[in-house]
Amino acid sequence: MIRTVATKPFSDQKPGTSGLRKKVPVFEQAHYSENFIQSIFDALDGYRGKTLVIGGDGRYYNREVIQKALRIAAANGFGKVMVGQGGILSTPAASNIIRKYKAFGGIILSASHNPGGPHEDFGIKYNAENGGPAPEKLTDAIFAKSKAIKEYRISDAGEIDIDTLGTSRIEDMTVEVIDPVKDYAELMESLFDFEALRKLFKSGFRMAFDSMHAVTGPYGKEILENRLGAPEGTCRNFKPLPDFGGHHPDPNLVHAKALYDDVMSASGPDFGAASDGDGDRNMIVGKGMFVTPSDSLALLAANAKLAPAYAKGIAGVARSMPTSAAADRVAEKIGVDCYETPTGWKFFGNLLDAGKVTLCGEESFGTGSNHVREKDGLWAVLFWLNVIAARGESVKDIVTKHWATYGRNYYSRHDYEEVESEKADALMRDLRAKLPSLPGTRVRGLTVAKADDFAYHDPVDGSVSEHQGIRVMFEGGARVVFRLSGTGTSGATLRVYMEHYEPDAAKHCIDTQEALADLIAAAEDIAGIRKHTGRDKPSVIT
Ligand code: G1P
Ligand code: ZN
Repeated sequence: MIRTVATKPFSDQKPGTSGLRKKVPVFEQAHYSENFIQSIFDALDGYRGKTLVIGGDGRYYNREVIQKALRIAAANGFGKVMVGQGGILSTPAASNIIRKYKAFGGIILSASHNPGGPHEDFGIKYNAENGGPAPEKLTDAIFAKSKAIKEYRISDAGEIDIDTLGTSRIEDMTVEVIDPVKDYAELMESLFDFEALRKLFKSGFRMAFDSMHAVTGPYGKEILENRLGAPEGTCRNFKPLPDFGGHHPDPNLVHAKALYDDVMSASGPDFGAASDGDGDRNMIVGKGMFVTPSDSLALLAANAKLAPAYAKGIAGVARSMPTSAAADRVAEKIGVDCYETPTGWKFFGNLLDAGKVTLCGEESFGTGSNHVREKDGLWAVLFWLNVIAARGESVKDIVTKHWATYGRNYYSRHDYEEVESEKADALMRDLRAKLPSLPGTRVRGLTVAKADDFAYHDPVDGSVSEHQGIRVMFEGGARVVFRLSGTGTSGATLRVYMEHYEPDAAKHCIDTQEALADLIAAAEDIAGIRKHTGRDKPSVIT
C-alpha cells in the first residue's frame, strides 16, 4: 500500500559540488533521507512508468537508504528500478547503466572519497538521463523543493531482496537486481585493446591496483585478474567494506601512501593505481614517477590515438579551472579546443553531450571521457595500461618525454581542512575585496597580471555560474587559485592551487614544493592564510 507521510522541511538539503553530503547521523534523522529523495522526484517531470537506476559505493547506511529509495520510487510511479546487486554500483558504472538502458535517471548513494561508518559521511546524488550529475538548474530546483516539502509518498512493502539477481515487484514497479560489474566490464572491453593488455601481463609486467576497501574491488578483480589475466594479488583491498577498513578511501599521496611506497621500492610492482570510495577517482604511479592528475589528462590526450576508442582522434579537451594548463598545451598542438570549467564533473556534461570534447579531467584525481558522464577511475587505469602496452615504455619515460616536448607544469594543491566556516568566509571576502587592486603589484618577485573571481559561461546552454574560485595570474603564466570546498561535511576546507610552467627540460627534475616555493609564499602574502585560519601549514598537500 502507498502511504502519504506528513513531514517538515530540513533547511540544510542544498546539494554541493557532488550531491547532498552529510554525516550519517544527519541522514539517520527521521524523514531526512525520505524528504530529500522525494524532493528529487518533486523536481523532476515525466518519469511515470520510466526506469530509475539505484546503486551506491557500499558504505555504511547504503542498504538502508536503498530500501527507502525503492519504496519511495514505487510510490511515486516509476515503472522499474534497476539496482546493483548488494546495493553496489560504482559511480561510472551507474552512469553507464543509465545510458545503456536509456533510464530516466539514477540515484547514486556515495560520499565519494570521504570516510564511511556510523559517524562518518554519506551522500545522495541524482544523475540525469545522460548519465551525468544533475546540472545546477536541477540541483537548485531540488533544494527549493526540499525547503517546501510537506509530505512524501512511500510504499509500506517489506524489505526487498537486493542480493539475488532477478526481478521482483513493489506496488506496480518492477525491481531488477543486476550484476554491477558485467555491463561496465563490457564497456571497457569495447574501448581498449584487451589483447595487448593480456600480452603485457603475460610478459611479466607487474601492477598493483588498490581499491582501498571500496567499490572498485569487484570491478578490478573481474577486469584485471579475470579478463586480462593479471596474476592474483594484483588487486589489493578489493573487498568493499562499509567503513573502508577505517581508512580514508581517497587515492592520493597521503591516503594511498602504502601503494606509492611499494611501487617506489626496488622489489615493488612496475605500475600502481588506486581508486576512491565510489570508483570515479584514480591515482597513477609508475616506478620512480608519480603522475599528477593534471599531467595524466594531458598525457592521455597526447596519446589518445593509441587506444582503439580514441584512434580517430579526440574532439576536444576540458579541464576544471584549478587543474593545470598542461592539457591546454596538448590541445593546442593537436589542434582541438580546450575548455576551462568550474570545479565539479557536472560542468563537463553539456560539453560532452554536444560533442565538443572527448576527454575531461580535474586536478582532484579525476579523469574521464565521453564513454560515460562521470569521471572514471578504472577507465583511466586501463587507458594508462593501453598506452604503456602500445608504447612499450615505462611510465617514467612516457612522462619525461612528454615534459620535454610540452614543458612541465609544476603543480600542487594545499588543503586547509576543517577551518571554522566564518574564518574561511572572511578570508575569501577579504580576498575578493582586494582583487581590483592586485594587478600590477609585485609579490615575492612575481608581478600580478590579472586577478578575478572565476565565472563560467556555458557555451552550450548559455548558463552562467559565478564565484567559482579566485584566480591570481602572474606574468609568465604562474598562478594561484583559492576556493572553498563544496564537498566537506564539517567546517570549511580552503583549497589553494599553485601552478608554474617550466619550458626548460634541464629544470624538470626539481622537487615540486621547491619549484613552487615562491608561489606558495606569494599565496600566503596575498591571502593571509595564517592570520585568517590560525594554521601555519596545510593539512594535506597533493
Ligand atoms: C572535490 C574536488 C572536485 C571534485 C569533487 C567531487 O570538490 O575538488 O574536483 O569534482 O570533489 O569528487 P570540492 O571539495 O573541491 O568542492
Ligand atoms: Zn569519488
